[in-house]
Amino acid sequence: QINEAEAMVFSVPNYACQRRTTLENHNAVLTDALSLLAENAELEDEDGRGVAFRRAAAVLKALPKPVTSLTQLRGLPCLGEHSLRVIQDVLETGSSSEAESTKQSERFKALKVLTGIFGVGPKTAAWWIRHGINTLHQLRASGHTLNRAQQAGLEHYDGVNRPVTKAEADAIGEIVETAVTSVLPGAQVTLTGGFRRGKLTGHDVDFLITHPEEGREEGLMPKVVSWLESQGFLLYQKTTRNSYLESKDGPARPASNMDRFERCFSIFKLAEDERRETKQPETRTDGVTRLRASEDACGRQPALSQADEEPKPWRAVRVDLVVSPISQFAFALLGWTGSKLFERELRRWAGYEKTMSLSSHALYDNKQSRYLKATSEEEIFAHLGLEYVPPSERNA
Ligand code: CTP
Ligand code: MN
Ligand code: MN
Ligand code: MN
Repeated sequence: QINEAEAMVFSVPNYACQRRTTLENHNAVLTDALSLLAENAELEDEDGRGVAFRRAAAVLKALPKPVTSLTQLRGLPCLGEHSLRVIQDVLETGSSSEAESTKQSERFKALKVLTGIFGVGPKTAAWWIRHGINTLHQLRASGHTLNRAQQAGLEHYDGVNRPVTKAEADAIGEIVETAVTSVLPGAQVTLTGGFRRGKLTGHDVDFLITHPEEGREEGLMPKVVSWLESQGFLLYQKTTRNSYLESKDGPARPASNMDRFERCFSIFKLAEDERRETKQPETRTDGVTRLRASEDACGRQPALSQADEEPKPWRAVRVDLVVSPISQFAFALLGWTGSKLFERELRRWAGYEKTMSLSSHALYDNKQSRYLKATSEEEIFAHLGLEYVPPSERNA
């Protein structure tokens, strides 16, 4: 036990976008408890409470050392009464009783199982629970009508809920790259989301597609999807067209935080041999990748988890594709790299501290009444008066 007087008092800036948050976390027990409570709030459709817990967890993720006493946290931002109570409980007893009882509650378990179905959000899940449906089995037996996304989500439940490895993300990247350059030579594919931040696993794989010549990217998504479909790579896809230009409320002020790029939410069919073949060229040059690829090949254990079922020669993987014109690429890249909290904090910083509106399309300066152009993420941070934070340090 460290003497309170000797323990260092931490200090972190207010906004997550002013901090460098790597994947190294010295306070995992605390942040796991707060993240669990955030997840529960989101599952209960209480986003305000969810954000409060996410902000508190993000502050602790940015600390250079484990917290040993509450006094070290004096003056830190974003730690509300409730979060401090949770932290105190963990420091005194080794775990959060609220997080533990939440985790074990039937309602939390049911909400988590049901929203694990792709296409099912907290509202639908809550409605089903009110009608006595708490499990996948009960849902299947109920005869409730499911939309196309939910049908695919239920059918591919295990795959969609199994973490995606970096090796699998790279294999999908090669498929997407082949698809994109087949239908539009010169087009470029960039891995975004958690994998761009250096995460080793993810719940999906995110890609941003563009072409160096403005306008050439128009209508690209349907062609990419057709190509992927013709090759049997898609188990499900829903493509939404670009709605940016025709919107009336101004490009930097979308009605919601959703952007309006041409996009595709999909479920890929990734073959076992695809995963190996695409790894082979890399295994010769990169020892680290080889190690990960083999770990991943041994680690999935499909036969062990479903002993009486034929192991499938493929797995389902959630993939998000977004097409951006090159003029908006830097904004799209920044907006799709995450983390979600980092993005939220960037927009909060822009609005409250700079009187600017940031979206995945543009940055608008409300004082100067003009758009600020940028061709790189570095330029956007500079416009916002922020020190540049590389993707690997945006893990807030
Ligand atoms: N995003 C978005 N609009 C959506 C969905 C996601 O702008 N409708 C952005 C998020 O803000 C985030 C990025 O896309 O910056 C990636 O989101 P997501 O895949 O949900 O999260 P990851 O950080 O990639 O984490 P995971 O590994 O769990 O996929
Ligand atoms: Mn992702
Ligand atoms: Mn995530
Ligand atoms: Mn995604």
